[in-house]
Amino acid sequence: MSSGCCGTTPEESKPKENETKDSGELRSAVQDIYGKASREENPELCCPTGYTDTDLEGLPEAVIRTSFGCGNPTLMAELEGGETVVDLGSGAGIDCFIAAKKVGPKGKVIGVDMTDDMLEKANKNNAIVADYLGYDVVEFKKGFLEELPVDDNSVDLLISNCVINLSPDKEQVFNEMARVIKRGGHFVVSDIVSDKDVPENMRQDSQLWGECISGAIRRDLFFKAMEDAGFYGLMVEKEFLWREDQGVSFLSVTVKGYK
Ligand SMILES: C[S@@+](CC[C@H](N)C(=O)[O-])C[C@H]1O[C@@H](n2cnc3c(N)ncnc32)[C@H](O)[C@@H]1O
Repeated sequence: MSSGCCGTTPEESKPKENETKDSGELRSAVQDIYGKASREENPELCCPTGYTDTDLEGLPEAVIRTSFGCGNPTLMAELEGGETVVDLGSGAGIDCFIAAKKVGPKGKVIGVDMTDDMLEKANKNNAIVADYLGYDVVEFKKGFLEELPVDDNSVDLLISNCVINLSPDKEQVFNEMARVIKRGGHFVVSDIVSDKDVPENMRQDSQLWGECISGAIRRDLFFKAMEDAGFYGLMVEKEFLWREDQGVSFLSVTVKGYK
């Protein structure tokens, strides 16, 4: 399995004239990397996830091999039958398919991703998973984390697996999360954060950004941005050191929070 993940602080990611172009370039680089990764395996994008045999039972090999997360967010979520789940940056769909098993035939799962090749792969596998489950509750939508194609206050659980670090505008992502989650709903996000500011030379490297490294923001800023967006009760469910580069420690963290 793989992971690849990114680094501006929420303050720094506020629109600035020269930053818009950089954000567009980063987005294109991320789309290129994940478009390619949907077609060819890339072990550089791998990170430990912690899926259980039960999670993976019935999922096509193609989905398991195109998994680029850094945690197992639905494992930490309290999901009930009939609930609505949204997955930000759903990739080939692994977490959507695991969530579909948990919400059952009366639930709904929406995966959002900006990369056409990933959406194509996810849709192809959706038919196979629906056949296995005997019901079809997953829908993949093209869209950006910063502008979710999801109604206000409509989601019981929001998950995301190693994607927020890839966004150049994390503040906007957290605001969008707060918009779509129902009052009383929650999120479980697995992502990469850093122990100190990522050096500028790394942040300018779009390949490292796409590999889920240089877009990571400092752990304390990540939590502050979630609180600033209005979430409360933040709890770290799992945390471990993923890798070290240029004196910076990159941590995989799974956080739960409530609206
Ligand atoms: C590291 S992969 C993770 C995929 C999936 N969550 C998994 O665990 O396998 C990142 C995915 O997020 C998508 N992505 C990255 N930035 C995005 C953004 N700003 N808006 C929508 N999708 C984005 C990419 O296209 C890619 O499919």
